[in-house]
Amino acid sequence: MTTRTMVRNSVNKPAAARRKRATWDRKRWFWLLVNLAAALPLLLLLWDAWRGNLSVNPIDDFTDRTGKAAIIILLLSLACTPVASILGWRLAATVRKSLGLWAFAYAGLHFLVFIGLDYGFNIGFILQDDLLQKRYIFVGLLALLAMLPLAITSTKGWMRRLGKGWKKLHRLAYAAGVLAVLHFLWLAKGGRMEPFLYAAALALLLIVRIPAVRKRAITLRRRLAT
Ligand code: HEM
Repeated sequence: MTTRTMVRNSVNKPAAARRKRATWDRKRWFWLLVNLAAALPLLLLLWDAWRGNLSVNPIDDFTDRTGKAAIIILLLSLACTPVASILGWRLAATVRKSLGLWAFAYAGLHFLVFIGLDYGFNIGFILQDDLLQKRYIFVGLLALLAMLPLAITSTKGWMRRLGKGWKKLHRLAYAAGVLAVLHFLWLAKGGRMEPFLYAAALALLLIVRIPAVRKRAITLRRRLAT
């Protein structure tokens, strides 16, 4: 190494370290913000329950609000990769796992409220009464079951152990999304627009997964940026 290179390196090093530190800080703050935002529906629900601000049917409030949080956060977690790769906002990819875990936590809570508060944990009653009779309950359960292996294998250890299989397994997130949207479409009564909005969002997320579409979208974004 020449003296000039050594001098240039020693000058650039603090700047490079500062840049690295700034990126790390940005990632950390963003992660914290996203996790706080994801916890908000639960905190608001508990706050409303404590203050007596729920409706005349608080069990319905718990079911509906945890279900809504689960589906919205699940769709947001599915949006992280396209936002990072197509829109070039790389920070989005850093919160995909957290959002997936929050979606699973809300879906689990939603399920617990249903079997615990609605049915007093009487599994036999659920099986004969709802599970096989109501198709929306059945697909809801499938959605939850699809999310379970994703939550279990979300750690670095599982990622290493499964290798390429990890990515394949995590395509289940899209299956969970489809089942969750179907669950909402089938249960919603009275011409509600909301489930259709989620269905449209999911359709868009599935379309941008098609390699040719993704490639075109990236090219378009780059062309617009120059
Ligand atoms: C075993 C699993 C599940 C069961 C038993 C279940 C059950 C229910 C029930 C009983 C309702 C209320 C229906 C009504 O208002 O008439 C509901 C609503 C809902 N569930 Fe589930 N669900 C399950 C899984 C899921 C999952 C995995 C998600 C999302 C990821 C989800 C999202 C929703 C949504 C968005 C609503 C509608 C909330 C609203 O009306 O505003 N559910 N679910």
